[in-house]
Amino acid sequence: MRRSDFEKDHYAIRGGVPLKGEVAIGGAKNAALGIIAAAIMTDETVTIENMPDVRDTNVMLDAMKAIGVIVDRVDRHTVKINGSLVQNVNIEFESIKKIRASYYLIGALLGKYKEAEVPLPGGCNIGSRPIDQHQKGFRALGASVRIERGNIIAKAKDDRLYGAHIYLDVVTVGATINVMMASCMAEGKTIIENAAKEPHVVDVANFLNSCGANIKGAGTDVIRIRGVEKLHGTTYSIIPDQIEAGTFMCAAAVTQGDVLIKNVIPKHLESITAKLIEIGCTVEEFDDAVRVRNNGRTHRTQIKTLPYPGFPTDMQPQAGVILSLSEGISTITESIFENRFKYVDEITRMGANIKVEGNTAIIDGVSKYTGAHITAPDLRAGAALVLAGLVAEGVTVIDDIHLIERGYEDFDVKLRSLGAMIQKVDDSKAVQRFTLETAAVS
Ligand code: UD1
Repeated sequence: MRRSDFEKDHYAIRGGVPLKGEVAIGGAKNAALGIIAAAIMTDETVTIENMPDVRDTNVMLDAMKAIGVIVDRVDRHTVKINGSLVQNVNIEFESIKKIRASYYLIGALLGKYKEAEVPLPGGCNIGSRPIDQHQKGFRALGASVRIERGNIIAKAKDDRLYGAHIYLDVVTVGATINVMMASCMAEGKTIIENAAKEPHVVDVANFLNSCGANIKGAGTDVIRIRGVEKLHGTTYSIIPDQIEAGTFMCAAAVTQGDVLIKNVIPKHLESITAKLIEIGCTVEEFDDAVRVRNNGRTHRTQIKTLPYPGFPTDMQPQAGVILSLSEGISTITESIFENRFKYVDEITRMGANIKVEGNTAIIDGVSKYTGAHITAPDLRAGAALVLAGLVAEGVTVIDDIHLIERGYEDFDVKLRSLGAMIQKVDDSKAVQRFTLETAAVS
């Protein structure tokens, strides 16, 4: 990362303002990452609308350019991609190692060129993140897969892939999307059983279908793909980000605010809506918006993260921040990734009372947080800590906000538009200035 990227790598937040107003949600980062990879599978130009302008999608687009893909940013949220001139199926792009979704390039390149060499994926350090199911899928389609020099190398045996019946041993978003991509131009029919049903799985399938693929059943446990000879260009708009929307819902709830969250698909938010109602918030659903209101202390509940339509693991830290301020003893069981409680140490410094036993956090609700100097441990935990700062007494400083910017576009700008006192700062002097200025208005 360039030095200038680090210059404003902290947020200063003065808590205590109930968020009020309207906020518009951007395109789904995790759908975008799959769709960017899938877009290179046709030689024709693809126009992608509602592309979020966040670090992860920008790294992915830069990696595309590095192998000869033409990437033309028409405006901040519209990108044209043309993959006809890919010179190399070996991605040797340093930054791509940092993002998890680099693995989608294996499915896309293998599906189109029948071979791929891609660095093993990185992404948030939220626990061991195996890719055995991806490999199992590629092998079932007739590719050899090996790991060498930190790269995954996949190659179709006789330059052909063949449709197969694949049962995934765990419900995995990544492997479901990857096998879908690799198989959409394979010969014959592929069936993926125990497929992930997340909204972004459906979005990548819809995108591929709009390019001429024949994928049925995305959004259910069984996806059927009939291989087609080639894909063609399209114009496609990415779905709204379920997790960005959920994060703003929680921000409204935790600050005891009243926020209309626009440009969402309320159905994708149902598990979050249900929990917010359970703890005492009011959530109204409209065609493409939700309004979250809360005007008192929330109460306890229990949450278990599960594959969609269950409660998303990517919303678990944000829920933890609310439950730590809710009356009574709550529990959160994390059943997807084992290392997702790293925000607990940080909010403990702000006054939370949480005990983690195995994959369960036992949360004894406290009545307030107090501002502290803390660090974002990963993308979603970082966003959750911002929510804690928004409600804490005094000033909170959060380091390493580049992790938050991996997945949230203009997070501070959007929060300020709802009344929050949050600012990017680059040094302790700027924190002092922020503290003085905001003390005057609070
Ligand atoms: C994706 C999302 C991430 C989200 C997660 C679960 C992207 C870029 N990331 O991550 O934000 O938290 O879905 O909704 O879209 N597993 C295996 N073998 C595999 C693959 C996965 O055992 O080959 C396990 C994982 O360890 C985990 C579970 O399956 O316990 C789910 O993982 P998966 O859905 O694949 O998550 P990601 O695609 O990594």
